[in-house]
Amino acid sequence: MYCCIRGAITVEENTKECIWHNAELMIGEIIKRNSLSVDDIISVVFTATRDIDAAYPAVALRKMGITEASLMCMQEMYVKGSLQMCIRAMVTVNTDKTKKETEHVYLKGAVALRPDLVKEKTEAVAIDGPAGSGKSTVAKLIAKELGYIYVDTGAMYRAVGLYCIDNNINYADNKAVEAVLDKIDISLAHADGSQKIFLDSQDITDLIRTPEVADAASKVAAIGSVRQMLVALQKKIAHDNKVVMDGRDIGTNVIPDARVKIYLDANVEERARRRCNELEQKGIAYDFNSIAADISARDEYDKNREINPLTVAEDANVIDTSDMSVDQVKDTILKIIRG
Ligand code: DC
Repeated sequence: MYCCIRGAITVEENTKECIWHNAELMIGEIIKRNSLSVDDIISVVFTATRDIDAAYPAVALRKMGITEASLMCMQEMYVKGSLQMCIRAMVTVNTDKTKKETEHVYLKGAVALRPDLVKEKTEAVAIDGPAGSGKSTVAKLIAKELGYIYVDTGAMYRAVGLYCIDNNINYADNKAVEAVLDKIDISLAHADGSQKIFLDSQDITDLIRTPEVADAASKVAAIGSVRQMLVALQKKIAHDNKVVMDGRDIGTNVIPDARVKIYLDANVEERARRRCNELEQKGIAYDFNSIAADISARDEYDKNREINPLTVAEDANVIDTSDMSVDQVKDTILKIIRG
């Protein structure tokens, strides 16, 4: 079925770079919010207000891989008192969604054109970052402080990884993992700022904390159908509850309208040191260099996969925790939430 989706965005400067960047941002949001792929785009008609003439916005789409769609750009008529420095788009797409289900996208100053379409931000707090950046430790404390539930999305990918290991499924083989997905029954329980995770009603909360499961989790997290299944579950939990949710794509993909987005980072040595401390406390032998190498390898994989890689959301607060205590990180985040 064909549907028309509207978009508009204001540009800061009448320059090629600015026009292309904003056109890409707007079309990217239309694609993301309507769960489209570039192949679903049939045509795009752009208009630009008279004060924009440094470039055609359509050129940006070629860079995004939208090469098959018919594109056209036009200059708008001037209407006295209307919004200036604005690019609009009408995108015809092939979609299963009905007209009512599609989401029009108005960004930056163009929000003023359709304030009725701007969604209230959810109460959710999204915390993203690489392995060992301290996400789960502070997310639990913050959830407790706010009386929200803490959702560890990494545990869900680990649960799929553990299932594959236990059932001799090659987790690096997309097809093999896809074939068993509908047999994987994951459920969560939340209490007092912490999370328990179950696979077929077996409590696997502690079983998923091994390097082997971490590696399997990172591999299955790159498979589209796995992400589709888990992201749907995560969106539902975030919709039905007040959550502090941590992961890799929470602010960019799972809860793009989160009230507060945090991106925690720390250098590899510090993250490896933290992992070693945890292992020491549990009495487990470790080798610092191999832990640091594992963390770097997982960073590479999580940041460079094709679907929803680990990236910093445009509106995230980035905190480098390398030289900060847990309390300092917690207080900084609470200040942002309350501020
Ligand atoms: O946070 P963690 O180490 O428990 O996550 C395990 C793996 O799951 C991680 O390597 C990447 C993946 N993951 C993801 O892709 N998206 C998320 N929202 C959370 C985790």
